[in-house]
Amino acid sequence: MRWITKPIISVIVAIFAYQLRSRYLKDTPSLNDPKVAIEETFLESWIDYRSNGWGYDVYGPISKKGKNMGRSGDPLGWIIVDSVDTMMIMHNKTTDEAHREQFSKEINLAEVWIRDTLNYNIDSEVNLFETTIRMLGGLLSAYYCSETYLIGNSTVYLDKAIDLADRLVPTFLQSPTGIPYSSVNLASGEAIKNHVDNGASSTAEFTTLQMEFKYLSYVTGNSTYWKLSERVYEPLYKNNNLLGPHHQGLIPIFTNPDTGVFQGSVIRFGSRGDSFYEYLLKQYLLTGEKIYRNLYYKSMSSMQKHLLRQSNGKLRLMYIGEKDYGLNGPTSSKFDHLVCFMGGLLAMGATGGTPYSELASDSEWTANHKSEWKVAEGLTRTCYEMYNQIPSGLSPEIVVFNSNYPVAEESWWKSKSEDYFVKPLDAHNIQRPETVESLMFMYHLSGNEQYRNWGLKIFNSFVENTKVIKVADSGEEKIAYTSLRNVLKVPTRKADNLESFWLAETLKYLYLLFDDDVDLSKIVFNTEAHPFPVFDQSRLNELNLTTGWKL
Ligand SMILES: *[C@@H]1O[C@H](CO)[C@@H](O)[C@H](O)[C@H]1NC(C)=O
Ligand SMILES: *[C@@H]1O[C@H](CO)[C@@H](O)[C@H](O)[C@H]1NC(C)=O
Ligand SMILES: *[C@@H]1O[C@H](CO)[C@@H](O)[C@H](O)[C@H]1NC(C)=O
Ligand SMILES: *[C@@H]1O[C@H](CO)[C@@H](O)[C@H](O)[C@H]1NC(C)=O
Repeated sequence: MRWITKPIISVIVAIFAYQLRSRYLKDTPSLNDPKVAIEETFLESWIDYRSNGWGYDVYGPISKKGKNMGRSGDPLGWIIVDSVDTMMIMHNKTTDEAHREQFSKEINLAEVWIRDTLNYNIDSEVNLFETTIRMLGGLLSAYYCSETYLIGNSTVYLDKAIDLADRLVPTFLQSPTGIPYSSVNLASGEAIKNHVDNGASSTAEFTTLQMEFKYLSYVTGNSTYWKLSERVYEPLYKNNNLLGPHHQGLIPIFTNPDTGVFQGSVIRFGSRGDSFYEYLLKQYLLTGEKIYRNLYYKSMSSMQKHLLRQSNGKLRLMYIGEKDYGLNGPTSSKFDHLVCFMGGLLAMGATGGTPYSELASDSEWTANHKSEWKVAEGLTRTCYEMYNQIPSGLSPEIVVFNSNYPVAEESWWKSKSEDYFVKPLDAHNIQRPETVESLMFMYHLSGNEQYRNWGLKIFNSFVENTKVIKVADSGEEKIAYTSLRNVLKVPTRKADNLESFWLAETLKYLYLLFDDDVDLSKIVFNTEAHPFPVFDQSRLNELNLTTGWKL
């Protein structure tokens, strides 16, 4: 018997092992080539949307149902427009010919939809900031990528961008200060105040429009977009004495758009505060306007002075705290995952996009820059630990660092190193990009492989936990990716939700982390990861595009 069964058993074992192996390799394809694996994940996620939710702005990968956001029910192109440039980049950079062919087909489908179906004459109120960073930013960078990578018809994207921008610009003209209200009706051009918070506009929202509108001026030669979008800064700085002792360059998160005066005194680098700082630096990097560089450095030095802290656990993790009651109030150790973009931003501010190794002999490499670089390293490490110590390997939406304020409660989950806690209601994950964004910047600026290793671990955790496989009656596997309700319990519970930034940002930044051909001194990413080219100074002069205000 033995001699018969033994080979049979070994054949069975071999087949089983082979299946296990291919299964294993399929689930963690990144073992072979991270870029091809990330392309694969992108295509699986996109094709699920394209097959089941096509044209809808909101999509549930579990229910396979889509819907639109506005009262009118018309689509804005939320997922499609946000995804196009990622596909163009992957199409250009892939080493897998089958993927390249697939991307070419998918780009064409998206382009035809944008050209023939997408119509921005929509009688609905849309958020000015979100529509600018995702749709205007997405169209403009699709235009740029189309021209750069020689794929698709760039005119389709630019025409649509101009049409959309012309529907958004009336918001800059309807308040006495030039600070726009938070929403706009795309058909009528009517600006609409925030329905809550006493009509206040979020400070980071109206200060995160300038890259997009300035790039549109640069491309079209029409200076109106540039001029209108930069008008917000003068009232913001002057009416609040923003650089004075009371604020020191750190903004409260709400502003009254009719007076230009801050409302409330909540200061934070998370939601509604974050990208104000981001667009100060990025405007300088994109356009060369020195005023924004100076304002950025003032804010960063105040941040280091007033908000930077270390947790009380074993790792003493660096974090940026929040001030709920102004600069003189207590510092809360609540930390949104959103703040994790700061590692990459500080690194770009310190280096200007030139790799660290080339800077040592540079006279610009000052003590301030060295200290910004140290903080960039520290915060990126912190954000990695927000994945590393979590059972699923994925960060929750918000953590609270171990500190005196607030004091941890019994019900909060505690990290192994005792450096942070997770409140029960903050344990979800919507596949946000900010940590892998910082890893991408840190890797290319430092050359340190550690950042790629961390990124690979995070990517594998996304695949393991956010991928859902349904086997159809035909035996065919239907793959999708979705958000999570709770990252603390494995297997993770899924939520029925696909965020467009999973395709626009998270997978793009992961991809570029593993791409060797990234020159961060030539492109600037908007806050939705849409790349624009650094402006040519002689073209700016020809077009007479210059800073129209001073302090
Ligand atoms: C990728 O883009 C470069 C220009 O940036 C272009 O020369 C090259 O042909 C493109 N490659 C493919 C495969 O599209
Ligand atoms: C590109 O798109 C524009 C606008 O839809 C169109 O006028 C033009 O003919 C297209 N070009 C090509 C080469 O198809
Ligand atoms: C420039 O853009 C503005 C804002 O949409 C528009 O009103 C104006 O007509 C444009 N100017 C030209 C020359 O196209
Ligand atoms: C250039 O722009 C400035 C400021 O906007 C303006 O004062 C000046 O007249 C413009 N010059 C030309 C030649 O258009």
